[in-house]
Amino acid sequence: MSSLHDVSQLLSKFDPRTGTIDDKPRVERRLVDLRGCFRDTQAYESALARGNPLVYTVASVEAAHGEGDLHYGLGVIHPGTIGDEYFLTKGHMHTWRDAAELYIGLAGEGAMLLEEETGGGSRMVRLHANAVVYVPGNTAHRTVNTGDEPLVYLGVYPARAGHDYGVIAQRNFRSVVVKRDGQPALIARE
Ligand code: F6R
Ligand code: ZN
Repeated sequence: MSSLHDVSQLLSKFDPRTGTIDDKPRVERRLVDLRGCFRDTQAYESALARGNPLVYTVASVEAAHGEGDLHYGLGVIHPGTIGDEYFLTKGHMHTWRDAAELYIGLAGEGAMLLEEETGGGSRMVRLHANAVVYVPGNTAHRTVNTGDEPLVYLGVYPARAGHDYGVIAQRNFRSVVVKRDGQPALIARE
């Protein structure tokens, strides 16, 4: 349980340039970690043959575990494309399907791909500085960088949300966000 006496539980400082939050753990996802995510597998394999760039990082604060507690993470997605598909996160559903999440854009230009688990609903919502995206429960979510600079954002979610990546690894998202005439467009995966 957090205590008002322990300021380290109450205040953290993040650096949007390094993608760090104090000394909290930070995961790095490189191109090799994203096998199966991109639509154009040939473009993926040839990009990987040329190098294994850092695609995104997430630093997380996940200390509190009470029923009403919150966790949060600082994400940084680097700019780039594989074929015509923007650099992206793996994407997931929350294990506790009812858990919603707030994404708060801090820098750069991007979008969130939101999909209902059942039914056909698929939406692209822009994410950028001064924008807040509300991700409802029961919604698979993936974030993409549609700009030329790093996309930086905070995600705030219930401590008991949990992350289900398996559901995405099995069937991926039904839609993809691609660059069309220099602009992001949402299209069916095919
Ligand atoms: C947490 C959340 C974000 C993501 C981050 C990286 O619930 O949605 O903090 O964890 O955008 O994406 P994933 O987790 O899909 O690799
Ligand atoms: Zn999430």
